[in-house]
This record gives sequence, C-alpha cells and structure tokens, in this order.
Amino acid sequence: MDAVITVTHPLDPLSLTEIASAVALLREGRKLAPTVRFPIVRLEEPTKTDLAAHRLGGSLPRLAFILAMDISNGETFEGIVDLTSGEVTSYIRLPLDQLPYGQPPVMLCEFETVEGTVKSDPRWIAAVKKRGITDEDIPLIQIDPFSSGYFGREFEKGKRIVRAVSYWREDIRDNGYAHPIEGVVAVVDLIANRVVDLVDDEKIIPVPRKKRNYGRETFPETRPDLKPLHIVQPQGPSFTVDGWKVEWQNWSFRVGFTPREGLVLHELGIKDEGRLRPIVFRASVTEMVVPYADPTANHYWKSAFDAGEYGLGRLANSLELGCDCLGHIHYFDVPAADDLGQPFTMKNAICMHEEDYGILWKHYEFRNGIFEVRRSRRLVISFFATVGNYDYGFYWYLYQDGTIQLEAKLTGIIQTAAVATGETYPWGGMVDDNLGGPTHQHFFNARLHMDIDGGGNTVTEHDFVPRPWGEDNPYGNVFDTRTRVLKRELDSPALADGETGRYWKVSNPNIQNSVGKAPGYKIVVMPSPVMLAQPESTVAQRGGFAKKHIWVTAFDAREKYASGDYPNVHAGGDGLPSYVKQNREIDNADVVLWHSFGHTHVCKPEDFPIMPVEYAGFTLKPNGFFASNIAMDLPPEANGHSVDNRLSPDKIKDSSCCHT
Ligand code: CO
Repeated sequence: MDAVITVTHPLDPLSLTEIASAVALLREGRKLAPTVRFPIVRLEEPTKTDLAAHRLGGSLPRLAFILAMDISNGETFEGIVDLTSGEVTSYIRLPLDQLPYGQPPVMLCEFETVEGTVKSDPRWIAAVKKRGITDEDIPLIQIDPFSSGYFGREFEKGKRIVRAVSYWREDIRDNGYAHPIEGVVAVVDLIANRVVDLVDDEKIIPVPRKKRNYGRETFPETRPDLKPLHIVQPQGPSFTVDGWKVEWQNWSFRVGFTPREGLVLHELGIKDEGRLRPIVFRASVTEMVVPYADPTANHYWKSAFDAGEYGLGRLANSLELGCDCLGHIHYFDVPAADDLGQPFTMKNAICMHEEDYGILWKHYEFRNGIFEVRRSRRLVISFFATVGNYDYGFYWYLYQDGTIQLEAKLTGIIQTAAVATGETYPWGGMVDDNLGGPTHQHFFNARLHMDIDGGGNTVTEHDFVPRPWGEDNPYGNVFDTRTRVLKRELDSPALADGETGRYWKVSNPNIQNSVGKAPGYKIVVMPSPVMLAQPESTVAQRGGFAKKHIWVTAFDAREKYASGDYPNVHAGGDGLPSYVKQNREIDNADVVLWHSFGHTHVCKPEDFPIMPVEYAGFTLKPNGFFASNIAMDLPPEANGHSVDNRLSPDKIKDSSCCHT
C-alpha cells in the first residue's frame, strides 16, 4: 500500500491519515496477528541535527514509532515505519522476560477486562464477603487496576500484571473512594486474564458507608452572591496560529503531543532585535510518580508512574470553553491512536489563551511626576490528564519579559483507606469518619532540551555565600556568588538549597551578550521535596530521578524519559541515574536539563471529596540573555477597562481607573 504524508512541518504530530497508514504498513509488513494491540503510536521526531539539515534543503523521512504487543502471549516489539518510503525499517522484539523486565503502559482495553477477571475469582468474592459485601453489591463494585510496582516475586518477573483494589458503591454515581474495601488486593495477569495472587488481610476492617459525593446533584444550593466575571477580548487574541505553529508577543514555538508526555513545546524561541533566538529545542514532562507511605496490604505497592505506566497524553481530557479555561481560547485537536491502532481525534485536548498577570513593571518618580505602569500578560498553553483518581493539569506560561514557566496543577480524589470505628489512621490523615488518606508524594520530571542561541550550551550551578572578613570585606557586608561549571554528567545531579539561593544557569559560551558575558537562562526551582523512600526500596530504584532536583545529560535521542522507557513492572535502575553513569562531557555541548519537582501530601479533611488544586513547578528566566528589559515597549492602555467601584453605575459605564 502507499503511505500518505499530510503534514507541513517535520515536527507536526502524526495526522489521522498517517496513523492509519503507519499501523496498516506494520500490520501488512510484519503480518501481525489480530491479537496485537498498540499501546503507543507516535511521531519518531527528527533531531536538532536532522532539522538543521532540513532547513538547508535536505530531505527528511517521515517516521512513525509503534509499540506493538500481542495480548495472547505478551510479546512486544518496537517498530519504526518510514511513511516516506512506505516501509517498516525496524521491528525489534523487546527482552521484557529478562531482568530488569518492564512492560508497555496499561491500556484502556485492559481496564475493562480486569473488572470481569477479578469479580469472577472465588477467592476475591470470599474476601469481600468477609467485609460485609453481598451478592447484590458485586455488580456495582468499582475495580481499580493499579500499575503493580515490582518486588521481585515470581508472578511479577517478566509478567504483565496489575494490582486491583475494590470500592463499594451504592449506585453508579456514588463516589467509590469514600468506600474502600480494605485488605483485599487481586493481582491480575493481563495476558493470562486470571488472578495470580489474592491478598486477603487477616485484619478485617468494615467498609466505610458514609456517602461523600461531588456530582452537581449533591450540592443543589449554591452560593448566591457570586456575580459574573467575563474576560472580553473585543479585537480577538494577540496570538497567531498556523497549523501547530504559534506566535505571540515575539515568542515563537510549535505545539506537539505524545501519548506518554501529552503536551510538548518544540523550537521555543523569541524575536529579539529582529532575529529569532532559540531558547529551548524541546520541553515536556516525561514522568510523574506517586509513591505511597503506608506499609499495609492495599497501599505499600502503590507508586503510579502516570506517564510511563499509563500515558499522560493518552488520558488527556477534552477541555470545554468556560470550564477549564477563561477568555478567547484556541483549542488544538490532537490526532491519536486507540489500543487497536485506529485513529481518532482527541477533541480540544490542548487549550491556549491569554491571561492578565498583574504588574509587569512600575515606577512613580515623585520629583517629576512621571508615573508609568504596565500590566503583564501571559500566554497559557495547557492540557489536563485524568489518571484514575487524580487529575493533573500541565500549564506552560510564556511572559512578555522572556520568562518561561511550567505549573503542574494537582487535583482530583485522594487514595483512601478504611479505618475501624474507634481507631485512628497511622499512615496518613483522617479525612472523614472511618476514612483515612495515605501519605504520599508526587514527583514530576521536566525534560528541557536546551538550545540557548543554538550551538553548544553549558550549565553552571550558583550559590550565594558570605565573604569572610578581610581587607576586601572590612565592614562584613560583602557576599559572593560561587559558581561551579558542570563539566561531566556525574557533576550534575544536585539538590536545591534555599539557604544559598542555589540556581542553575544554561548559557552559550560561544557568544557574548551586551556586557561581554555568555547569554543564558536560569532555572528557578520551587522549594520541593525529594523522594523519601529508602534508596534500596524498589520504588526509589524505579523512580531514582526523584532523588535529585537537577540532572544534566548530553543529548541522546534514545534517552527520552526520566524513568526510562518501560517503568511498568520494572525492577529498577533505568532512567536518569543510569543515563548519567556514562559521564559524558556536558560543557559547551548539546545538553538536556532535567528537573524533578513535586509535593509531599499528608491528607487532611479539606482534600475530600475533591481536593482543591495544589501547585508545583518551576521558572526559566532570562539571565543576561537580553540587553535590557524587553517589555519597555508595552502599550500603557492595558488598564482601560478597570473601574472605580465607588462610582455610580452610570459613570462606571464609560470610565476607567486611568481616566476618571
Ligand atoms: Co496527593
């Protein structure tokens, strides 16, 4: 058959036609059995070098990466299909039956089969009945197939398993997380479709029955004193969109999307004095892990790697106007493949809009009456993924002064544990009667393939330190910035330090800025925990990236994810800790900056039934990149629609705080 290429730029995500074409070429070329499923279908992206050659007129093949797994035997292959030539150029069997194992992400089709498998297992039926569940309850019981973790047990080695926990529900709209069935865990082999181990804890804790719902019908009376707040952009937004390419306030970038990471920003740069200056070649969040700190049967193994074990992109929401975002919105529909490799459109998966962001700069000079203030506007590019009980938003912000920010928003429903009447929950906080929330941590890892002004980049670490008393510090007021150049990969793993104000700067040593230094961007990290599980624990071995805040690697197209390629049921050791062991040179090189950040969550009543958004993230700020504040030329009319609340309504109509 003929392949079809329908895109306009080599970094555009695969189109619906290309997905269909790539899967069909692989099916035909390798005579795939009807039992083969496709956990991942994505663009095999061209590298920085490929794109440089392409800009000079060279041709680039259009490549699709396909992960193919036969659900009848678990055999898994990585395939590359060349859509330009119509050929399968590579098809390699993964040795997932050998240490350190690993599995493709859990697929949606498997969620459905697990429920039937668990509910037909006589040991599971007996175990839930011990906890007061009746035959009539069973059809309504919610089964959560959780990625299993790895503990070296025989039924884990090289196997495709999940650990399933169960929740009672009174009806289909009832919030099951209010009613955990404690002490019962079914280990399900997804290839054999059977329960290979059933944990039925000796301690019987009754199922909490108090209802804690959140559907609109639960809150018929809403607060009456909230007035409308409209965002109006009568002349439309200030951005322009051409396919996947976006321009806004001198910024330029391309939007991308992968099944594992979700939103990707490509070729992020800014126009400065008439030329486009590259900053980040590729930016994404490659992993997110949530280790739980409860040693009991239902919880000790929980450590969802939401990107690598499920796929943040595969679980993206369709965003709706007026709900998730406010204002004049541009949505990107994302072409995707289902488990059978069939293309479909993820409608409104990415949202882009502008937001007012308070004051950008201001000064009042009382001597001459000059009073200047400019409001800040930011461009928001975002998506939300729902992974089981939790919902995560990923918001990239671009600002008019050259700042780049990533904000992760954590919301949704916490994991819960049943607690017997009269007891208190020792592994976290009580959130309601008979209901505890296990303490846990959330760790994200952002991968930033840097490109400051093109060419080689260098990462330096900076600490503010007091200078000792001496001839050069006679009053004791002097302090210094201590700088360390990260020359090789093993120099790079580091922790943030609020006491010394530690920050890292990526600069281009081959170019001089306006004051004779290397132009750069600094990464400003938020106070953020590291993984507290013991270093030898399997979760710390599998999520080793979360033991440090900063890592720097020499670019290698194969090193895409902080937790390695296949963290699901993996014995550990892959990802960043393994990448940096190569100890490659990173000074004036093609570098990737990785940042782990997160949140430690001790549950409390306010988290239930749905927790208000918690934030985590970081900022990249220009540091000697520009010759001055680039936002001096903003028009001052930005406050034109503000009004003084003390004015009478007829005066409000045509007044503003600037011109009353
Ligand atoms: Co949490």
